[in-house]
Amino acid sequence: MRILVIGSGLAGINAALLASEFADVTLLSKGPLEQTNTQRAQGGIAAAVAALDDPRRHAEDTIRAGAGLCDPDAVHALTGDGPEAIERLLQLGVEFDRKADGALALATEGAHTIPRVLHAGGDRTGVHIQSALVARLAECDVDVRTHVTVSELIVEAGRCVGVVTDGRETLLADAVLLATGGAGALYRTTTNPANATGDGIALAFRAGAVVRDPEFVQFHPTALLGANSAFLISEALRGEGAVLRNAAGERFMIQVHPDAELAPRSVVARAITETMHRDDADHVMLDISHLDADFLRERFPGVYRGALNRGHDITAGPISVAPAAHYHMGGVYTDVAGRTTVPGLYAAGECASTGAHGANRVASNSLLEAAVFSSRAIDAIRREPGPARAPSGEMRTLHWRLEGCAPSLERLQATMNDLVGITRNEAGLQNALDRFSEWSAEPPTQVDPSLPLATLTARLIAEAALQRTESRGGHLRLDHPGEDPTWHRHSLWQLARE
Ligand code: SIN
Repeated sequence: MRILVIGSGLAGINAALLASEFADVTLLSKGPLEQTNTQRAQGGIAAAVAALDDPRRHAEDTIRAGAGLCDPDAVHALTGDGPEAIERLLQLGVEFDRKADGALALATEGAHTIPRVLHAGGDRTGVHIQSALVARLAECDVDVRTHVTVSELIVEAGRCVGVVTDGRETLLADAVLLATGGAGALYRTTTNPANATGDGIALAFRAGAVVRDPEFVQFHPTALLGANSAFLISEALRGEGAVLRNAAGERFMIQVHPDAELAPRSVVARAITETMHRDDADHVMLDISHLDADFLRERFPGVYRGALNRGHDITAGPISVAPAAHYHMGGVYTDVAGRTTVPGLYAAGECASTGAHGANRVASNSLLEAAVFSSRAIDAIRREPGPARAPSGEMRTLHWRLEGCAPSLERLQATMNDLVGITRNEAGLQNALDRFSEWSAEPPTQVDPSLPLATLTARLIAEAALQRTESRGGHLRLDHPGEDPTWHRHSLWQLARE
């Protein structure tokens, strides 16, 4: 059996390692193996491993934060498999932080009702996970190819049978697993690496797969913004007691939610945005300087150094923060076995929509999802069952001309930031869609092979954001500020047949 894995974060490498036990595996990575959202993860990975915790409680917390759109089966798969996924990561060599007595150290983050976030190297969890995975990959028999962009999936008689790369190479396989990661780099201000342009969603969509809920983009509440960059300030700081203040120095989250700074992420991001608007400011302040400086340097070495390099000292006083594009809840629809609606095509990690996150992902559930569902997908490939049944509900279709493409990634990012960002309204979204139409009428000028894919994923986000005339989870419509019960459903998207 031959398996192609596209992507080199936790989902991709974990899948490749498992698949190499029974198949010939090729792993394709668009950039260097480490240029992933996994590598950048700070806070950690959530799992019910504490004596007082259990997967049902983890599931309840996840569902409560998901704003009505979590799929309970997916959530229970996520939290139920969680402890086993952690055991596997330990076996792969990830050294999670431990307390003096040797027990795993567990942190608190927003919406979790008990400390359940494992971390490594303080706030360098992603670096530790990624490097353990890369080390294990080097030891096993996987054909690893970096700096290869997949430009198309090959579908024959309705089945995905391989890929075409930007070098026009054809690679055939019995199964293709998309693990291409997130789409944050469709935005100018993002915590994601530059290659996180949502390629997997566009590839799957063009191959006929169902895409679900693309409008749900999570903006992390606290990033340190530079001119064209956003450095993540982990939610784990708020878990340790960091507070948010407005321009007058007041703690505004106390009035917003009983859990204050540890409310679900969409609630905090929205409150920060509204506070910035009221204060006519481009940031609010985050303060953890009341804690001991040595403790902060040890617990948050990555944030401490990263902020210091940008001229901010978290031990000395408040620092300025603002929301930035961080995580894509929407993605390629899969069942709990990682199967898409196209036979032979699987998806896991951030590019997938398993239903585990609903409209608002809980902090540190994403690494867990990558670990759990990549293992499940490889299990399904080994057993070779059919595709996922298409989800029930109204299916929207979208025409797409293959050559339709933004003139540059910068133009695309500016459009997404300005018109399809953390706050949205009908006029802005329509304006964005008009630009997409203009671009598809223009002859392509791009050289970046993933720009057509990025443009398609961006357009799906904008189309779905316009359709959803309510605010829910990470989707905030200024012209429809409340939840609408008639929108208590997923949005489903499929390629229109000519
Ligand atoms: C963080 O450390 O705040 C990010 C963790 C996550 O997005 O799950």
